Order: sequence, then structure tokens, then C-alpha cells
Amino acid sequence: KTKAFIFDLDGVIVDTAKYHFLAWQKLANTLGINFTHDDNEQLKGVSRVRSLEIILGLGNVEATEEQKEEWLTQKNEDYLGYINTMDDSEILPGVMKVLNFLKANNQPIILGSASKNARPILEKVNILHLFDDIVDGNDVSNAKPDPEVFLVGAKKANQPNENSIVFEDSVAGIQAANNAGMMSIGIGEASVLHEADIVFNDFNQISEEFLTELINK
Ligand code: G6P
Ligand code: MG
Repeated sequence: KTKAFIFDLDGVIVDTAKYHFLAWQKLANTLGINFTHDDNEQLKGVSRVRSLEIILGLGNVEATEEQKEEWLTQKNEDYLGYINTMDDSEILPGVMKVLNFLKANNQPIILGSASKNARPILEKVNILHLFDDIVDGNDVSNAKPDPEVFLVGAKKANQPNENSIVFEDSVAGIQAANNAGMMSIGIGEASVLHEADIVFNDFNQISEEFLTELINK
């Protein structure tokens, strides 16, 4: 049997969530906005533009479109600086094992990310070739929790939504998968990702038996 296995990127495949946080925090600091680790949960999975709006909202800061563009560029330059030296050591625990198992079982592997930096990151960590299709921030216009990115992903894999399984580390992403009528698997803390169908701490907790059951369901 065949399912569509759709993976978020940041915080699921690679440990880039910390770099996004550092870059946003730097911007917030320069704007005099207090931005904590807890605030950052709201930004995970959320598009670049929407993330800036949330941060400005935290500080009640208003700005022109032009000024916002400048800040977005600055944030992305800082972020690119952080990810510049990434290599495959930053692939999160258990990810390779799961990707290789799905490949060996001829399952479609799709990326479903809000990031516009997805392809260069996958290249940097040497796993771009494992993906049958990439749907990223360059392809969709509606940010998670809108299901668009995952709906497009399932279509590319030629699978109905109910045969699609999404791996996500963010609340917005879990909601997007649920909104798409797909199975949502949270990677992270169960208390944060309580809306997911099931949550694992990391991919090392996902057994081959569990994956085989998903494939054959
Ligand atoms: C992912 C991350 C977000 C990030 C968004 C856009 O969803 O979880 O933190 O803001 O992608 O990424 P980009 O690389 O295009 O700024
Ligand atoms: Mg993520």
C-alpha cells in the first residue's frame, strides 16, 4: 500500500527552530520588544511575514510596509548567517532512520514547509534527493494553520488527504494537518502539541512496526 508522508522542515528534520528564534530575538531586541522563548512557540510553522506581525503586536509597534520589508530582509540575512555553516550533523535524531525506512518501502516523501529557505537547507544537510516533492513558502500563499501547503503536498503524491500523514513540531502545523483531514503526528512535547493525533519526543521513538501499520492502514 501507499500513503503520502509529509514532513515539515524546521524543528522536524533539522534543528533550525533555534536559529529562527535567535534571528527574531535579535530583531525584537533592536525594536525594544520583549520576546521570550514562550512567545516563540506562536511563531513556529508560521510564515515570515506573519511572524513579524506577531512580534510587532507583542510590542504594540506599528510600522509602514517599507519598514516591515526592511526588517524582514534583516531577519532573513541574520538567519542565513546562522544556517550558513549547517551540515548533516544538524539533522534531528532518528530522522534518517525513518526517511530511509519509508524510502525502502516505496512511500512518497514530501516536504511541506512554510520556509522559503527549504531547498538550500535540504541541500546543505545532503538529503534533498530523498524527497519526491517539495512544497515550501515559495509555492503557497496561505500560512499554516491554513492547510494549503499540505493539500498541495498530498496532491503531488497523488494521495487523498485521508491517506496523508504529517509530521510537525508546531501548533500551527498540527492545526493545518487537522484542517486538511490528515493524520497529524507531533514531534516534540505532548503538552504543547496536544491537538495532534499522536506525539513523539523525537523520531527515535517511532518504531518500524508503527510505520508499517501506517503504511498498511
Ligand atoms: C517555518 C518556521 C518558521 C519560519 C517559516 C518561514 O515554518 O517554523 O519559524 O518563520 O518557516 O521561514 P523562512 O525561512 O522563509 O523565513
Ligand atoms: Mg516546524
